[in-house]
Amino acid sequence: EKVLKVALLGGGTVGSQVARILLEDADALAARAGARLVLTGIAVRNVDAPRDVELPRELYTTDAEKLVSGADLVIELMGGIEPARTHILAALKNGASVVTGNKALLAQDGAALFDAASANNADLNFEAAVAGAIPIIRPIRESLSGDRITRVLGIVNGTTNFILDAMDTTGAQFADVLAEAQRLGYAEADPTADVEGLDAAAKAAILASLAFHTRVSLEDVRCEGITKVTADDIAAAQDAGMTIKLLAIAELITAGDSADGTAAEGVSVRVHPTLLPRKHPLAAVHGAFNAVFVEADNAGSLMFYGAGAGGAPTASAIMGDVVSTARRIAAGAPGAPGAATRALPILGLDAVTTSY
Ligand code: NDP
Ligand code: HSE
Repeated sequence: EKVLKVALLGGGTVGSQVARILLEDADALAARAGARLVLTGIAVRNVDAPRDVELPRELYTTDAEKLVSGADLVIELMGGIEPARTHILAALKNGASVVTGNKALLAQDGAALFDAASANNADLNFEAAVAGAIPIIRPIRESLSGDRITRVLGIVNGTTNFILDAMDTTGAQFADVLAEAQRLGYAEADPTADVEGLDAAAKAAILASLAFHTRVSLEDVRCEGITKVTADDIAAAQDAGMTIKLLAIAELITAGDSADGTAAEGVSVRVHPTLLPRKHPLAAVHGAFNAVFVEADNAGSLMFYGAGAGGAPTASAIMGDVVSTARRIAAGAPGAPGAATRALPILGLDAVTTSY
């Protein structure tokens, strides 16, 4: 039996669930991956911190660098830019493959990470980075790669949907609901990223990059969060038969004819609170659930729906990547699918075509 050494960076909300699955389902995972996945350690800041999930104490370490250096597969669930970026780059340089849920890092530095993965023939997979448990990266990156995607639109942040939904259905106060979302493990370590729309913007940048085969980073996304949405706004929306949702919208826009007579394309990506009629399918997305519409020339309109945040749902997406990555390593053929193939201009709001 082949053995793959798996290093886990982060043992928090998601990491602890990933470790649990790796240990509890070891035999089933070995059968599906074609290799035994041996968890060699869990890097954390404090090995003595009390933990919700009971795991063998000897797995915890503060020496992430050492853990990474001996690994075949690194799962990064620390979050943040540094030291996550340094550890991922070190892993890829060693020829190890990486699975991560770190949308903030991918939206800021994805290009450098993809270049390192392809230079070292390693996999870099990140299904969990957008919309928690919902398979959305693989469908866009692989299943729809023979089609032309023109728009991706939806609810991609569980925390803000949970807050807006509670404000809408129970009249709850913003601050109380945010605390509940944090307790349930939906929010980022710094929840400002959620409520200011930056987490959704990072996800929108990732989706736009994959859907339109270009590079969109966080700074290309126009972003407004939900901190200015008041109880009065929500009541006014209700009176008008509407609800307020935080939407992420990425569009491929045909911006007229270019000099050589071919249609010129550009990209618009934005995140903002949006008034939706209560009968709109996105108005029925409650709690921390997410839903994403993908529109493509030949497929038409597709809808992806499910749990968008939380430890176990996100761990499901991580484990899907772990098994498929392990399969490729075991077969001796890891290597990330190509990233951007063109550089499309980022367009302003005047080019927008979306209606709801
Ligand atoms: P948590 O804050 O719950 O966990 C982070 C873990 O990383 C903790 O175990 C922490 O150690 C460890 N850690 C952080 N910094 C360091 C460091 N410098 N050195 C060593 N260990 C470190 O985060 P989540 O599990 O919620 O999220 C992890 C990642 O997954 C993030 O990128 C997040 O955006 C992403 N994600 C989260 C989702 C969710 O619903 N929570 C959904 C989708 C993606 P210690 O425990 O000692 O503090
Ligand atoms: N904080 C994120 C959210 C976690 O609420 O959607 C899932 O990416």
